[in-house]
This record gives sequence, C-alpha cells and structure tokens, in this order.
Amino acid sequence: MTDKTAKLDLESGTSEYPVLPGSVGPDVIDIRKLYGTTGKFTYDPGFTSTASCQSAITYIDGGEGVLLHRGYPIDQLAEKARFLEVAYLLLHGDLPNQSELDEFVNSITYHTMVHEQLAQFFRGFRRDAHPMSVMCGVVGALSAFYHDSTDITDPRQRLIASHRLIAKMPTIAAMAYKYSVGQPFVYPRNDLSYTGNFLHMTFSVPAENYEVNPVIENAMRRIFILHADHEQNASTSTVRLAGSSGANPFACIAAGIACLWGPAHGGANEAALNMLREIGDSKNVKKYVDRAKDKNDPFRLMGFGHRVYKNYDPRAKVMQTTAEEVLKELNISDPVLDVARELEHIALNDDYFIEKKLYPNVDFYSGIILNAIGFPTEMFTALFALARTTGWVAQWNEMISDPEQKIGRPRQLYVGATHRDFVPVSER
Ligand code: SDX
Repeated sequence: MTDKTAKLDLESGTSEYPVLPGSVGPDVIDIRKLYGTTGKFTYDPGFTSTASCQSAITYIDGGEGVLLHRGYPIDQLAEKARFLEVAYLLLHGDLPNQSELDEFVNSITYHTMVHEQLAQFFRGFRRDAHPMSVMCGVVGALSAFYHDSTDITDPRQRLIASHRLIAKMPTIAAMAYKYSVGQPFVYPRNDLSYTGNFLHMTFSVPAENYEVNPVIENAMRRIFILHADHEQNASTSTVRLAGSSGANPFACIAAGIACLWGPAHGGANEAALNMLREIGDSKNVKKYVDRAKDKNDPFRLMGFGHRVYKNYDPRAKVMQTTAEEVLKELNISDPVLDVARELEHIALNDDYFIEKKLYPNVDFYSGIILNAIGFPTEMFTALFALARTTGWVAQWNEMISDPEQKIGRPRQLYVGATHRDFVPVSER
C-alpha cells in the first residue's frame, strides 16, 4: 500500500484519496470512494487518464516507445521466442521451461480442430462477407459447442477454454479465408508449428503438396508476437467488460473481435494498405500529408498515431524490417513500400506530426507484408484478431482471477431533459 494521497478541495470540503504506485509507470489515484464521499463522478470520455484495472501482463511506456510483456522487451521476443512461448508467458507470467513448453504446445496442438458441424456456420455467409463478420459469428458460436468449458468459476474450465481459443483461432481464420475464395477447408496438421500450420491451412490446396517457406513462417511468427497483447486497448477493454458480467469466454472474445474491427483500431491495417495504394506514387505523398493536416478534411493517415505511443511504436520498427525481408525473399518490389517509406519520411519531418507526436504504429507496415505473402486486404484484421486472442485470453483470465473485480458499470454526465410529464399526441 502507500501513504501518499491526493487531496480534492470542493465546496463541500476536502477529501483525500490514496495514490497507488505500480512497479513501473504512472501512479494512480484510487478514486473508488469519490462518489460516496463527494457525490461527484470523474469525467474521462475515451479514458485518456483512467486506469480501468491493475495488470501484470503488458507495460507500455508511450514516451519512450517501450513495450514489455511480463517484463520482456517486444523486440527480444519478436526475434527469439516461438509464438506459443509468448502465449504461455502472457497467460502464466513466466517463460516456460522445456517440459512446460512441450505440455503447452501439445495441448494447443490437440485443440486446433473445430467441431465438424461448425463448418456449416460458414455456409450461411455470402462468399464476399468480410472475414471479420465471419470471425464474430463463428467465434461467438463456439460457446454452443463447448459447454464443458464455459463455467468461469472453474479454473480448469477456464484453462481449457483458453487453450481452445488460442488453438482454434488460426483454424477459424483459415476457414474464413478458404470460404471467401471457394476452396475446400484444410484440416490442421500436428507436425507443423503454430504459424506454419496456419499458413498450411490457409494456402495449401488438395492438388498440390504445400511446403511452408521458413522465411514466411518466421515473418508470421513475428507478426503474431507483435500483435499478441497491448495493455488495455479498446478491444481488450471490451473483452474485460464483457467478462466482468460473467459472460462465457467465447462470447467475450467475439466481443473483442467486433471492437477490433473498427478502422481506428485493428481495422487500421486494412485501411493503411488501402490508403497507400490510393496514394499510389511517392510524388502524391505530400498531397495526402497536407489533407491529414487539414482540420476541415476528415482524412487521417491510417497506421499513424497512437493513444499511448508518443514515440515510434516499437512494433512498427520490427514490422518495417520484416517487410524488407519478406519482399526480398519473395523477390517482390512493391511500389507501396516506397510510398510508405516516403510517407514516413515526410511525416516525421513535418511540424504537424512532430508537434502532435504522431509516428507510424503497428498497422503501418503490416499490410505490406501480409499482401506480399498473399493475404487479401480483408483478411488483415482477422489475422490481428487471431494473434490478439492470446492477449485477450490472458487479460480475461487475469480479470476473472482478481478478487477486487466487479462488473464494469461506468456512470455519466447527464445533459438530457429533466423531468417532464407525458403529453398525448393530440396535444403535441
Ligand atoms: C491500434 O490502443 C492500442 O494499443 C491499439 C493498438 C493495439 O495494439 O491494440 O496499438 C492497435 O489500434 C493502433 C492504432 C491504429 N489506428 C490508426 O492507425 C488510425 C489512425 N490513427 C488515429 O485515428 C489516431 O491516431 C488514434 C485513434 C490511433 C489515436 O487517437 P487519439 O489518441 O484519440 O488521438 P486524437 O484522435 O485525439 O488525435 C490527437 C490529434 C488530433 O488533432 P487535434 O484535434 O489535437 O488538432 O492528432 C491528430 C488528431 O486530428 N491525429 C492525426 C492522426 N492521428 C491523430 N492526424 C492525422 N493522421 C492521424 N493518423
């Protein structure tokens, strides 16, 4: 605990609130008793200055461009860890030893198949349905198949549901892609890595023997790690809020997928590539930068800016390196990468972006890589959801295990009509 306090002077008197320190990062003012003491609420739309919970999973220093998962820097994990090592780390708090890793990988591997009847759900969608609509629907439906892991009060069921979600998301995402292109679903294989299996389920066809390209497999591993978790972002907060009501984990993850879909959040990777394609040539970049600076123009540079990072998003740096590696491996000279580099160069030297501390974020380069590998743009956010499921599941488990956790129920500043009596329509 702490003896530091924050004083609040109001006309009704002075009240004090504990100031709680974290292991690193900003202290928080514990205002849980504020309404009971003062009859007043705090007001923070968008939660720009609000800590919704305490967590030990991910720490971001936005000013320094630092991202730690359970203390490990993201660039080290992206370079050295298997994706399932990071998944274990997020879920359990420490990197696994060999026997823990083998047991975890084995459990995930043997949960990758989905119930055969689930395949029928896809057939209800139009072929051109956005993959995120399919992911929302199918993941939400998982709770109809796995009643034996929906009791959130049972730690064993919570763990099984967590493993099922981490294991089945690649299968469901690959099925969403296959359905959209009219190809048969491909069953998971137990002899491939998590990312290799996903590439196999996505790109192999019955007529050919698909070989996973190790450079592409490594790029996907990095991309999944870079997207795995990110503190209390909008979709993670959605999962936590849904979970706080006692909803089953499959429904909570479906809620997270829905929130991630927005272009201001996970949908930005799709929007960023579409924007770079619209710009088309480096000579057009300045025109778009000027539009982004124009207060009367709603246009924003997609893949730029961040609520927390006021420095370069450390994930974007790894993503840029990976983009260059993948394009070289596939012998692709994508003009969009030149546009992205020119856009970054102009923006980072422009007073507007410097003053507002707007830098490329995780979504700026990811689309270039995914496009080069062969994913359609519409699949980009589904891949983000696939990877972020690990973070959502870890955060959900942390919330459920928190003895102080209550149902999330924000209040409001009411600015509507005060009391008035009903008037019959004949008198209106
Ligand atoms: C993700 O929260 C997370 O951690 C998210 C994420 C994760 O891993 O979960 O990191 C993933 O969602 C990354 C962000 C992806 N979104 C985009 O790339 C969309 C484009 N970026 C923005 O819309 C915006 O930057 C946000 C939504 C990301 C952040 O918005 P904020 O923090 O609410 O900031 P703001 O909208 O109040 O902008 C501050 C100022 C504004 O100008 P003023 O009103 O002060 O004059 O900066 C301007 C904005 O107009 N601004 C931009 C801009 N982003 C902000 N101007 C031009 N282009 C942009 N991209």
